[in-house]
Amino acid sequence: MLNYNAEYEKYLKFFSQQLNIALKSFDNIPQNLAEPMTYAIIDGGKRVRPVLLFATAEMLGLSLDDVKEFAIAIESIHSYSLVHDDLPAMDNDDYRRGKFSTHKKFGEAYGILAGDGLLNFAFEYVLSKDNFNMLDAKALKLLAEYAGISGMIAGQVLDLANEKSAVISEQILYSIYENKTAKLLMCPLLISSIKSNGKYYDELKELGLNIGYMFQISDDIMDAEQSSEHIGKTANKDQVQDKLTAIKVFGLEGAKERREYHYNKCLACLDKMQNADFLYQFVKKLYERTK
Ligand code: IPE
Ligand code: IPE
Ligand code: MG
Ligand code: MG
Ligand code: MG
Repeated sequence: MLNYNAEYEKYLKFFSQQLNIALKSFDNIPQNLAEPMTYAIIDGGKRVRPVLLFATAEMLGLSLDDVKEFAIAIESIHSYSLVHDDLPAMDNDDYRRGKFSTHKKFGEAYGILAGDGLLNFAFEYVLSKDNFNMLDAKALKLLAEYAGISGMIAGQVLDLANEKSAVISEQILYSIYENKTAKLLMCPLLISSIKSNGKYYDELKELGLNIGYMFQISDDIMDAEQSSEHIGKTANKDQVQDKLTAIKVFGLEGAKERREYHYNKCLACLDKMQNADFLYQFVKKLYERTK
């Protein structure tokens, strides 16, 4: 029988240990770069992507050691994306993960450079791992694509380009979601699959996409429904900045229906895989989350 909480704590603890090891790499860089980089990654995040990576890896029969450098890389890229997302030129948020956003704390230039640093560090860290092999290369290529100009960065461009837009398009909304959010959430699932020679690749891709849609719809709903204190970042920003969100396209109740629709899609994907007990429960937690 699965002890969900014990497994979840195991993943968080392992990630935290790995992060401490990874952060030693910052010992030899300028302190005014190491500080904002550390600040941006060290605490406050839910670690959703590392947990997805570890759980999928174990589901497929891999060990946590097989994917540990990728966990650091994905969270490093995710953290950089948040630092840059908060910059005045982008969403302009002073708060993140329950504290000042990185640029607010260290100044804009250091926010930009810390983000750049975390992005490069992600690739350097995986490329420096012991026994880097062809499967690692294939997985790293996927990460570069999904986080990059065919993925998250493209999604952020679409998100900004559709601010204050008179066009309210479901198709554009989904394109923003797929790229800015889903692609980085698909990485942990697909990297584990690649590392196990492509096992359940299509099923995991479909699962990751629907987790991504569900996750960003929840983020939009929380922006509208929760307090800044609760979510650790400024609430009600999407409406103020007139973002193209699920709320703008479907209304609050309609957005909740879409969230449920994608949750059910996730369950249908999980039904096709063996040993998915932890992922069932984790996806349910993501469906029910309020922060
Ligand atoms: C926030 O991601 C940005 C989105 C993609 C919605 P998370 O909600 O995973 O943020 P942290 O890592 O827990 O702070
Ligand atoms: C985040 O979307 C997407 C990223 C790739 C960072 P949001 O702009 O809605 O995320 P929050 O609400 O600021 O965390
Ligand atoms: Mg944004
Ligand atoms: Mg934002
Ligand atoms: Mg948001």
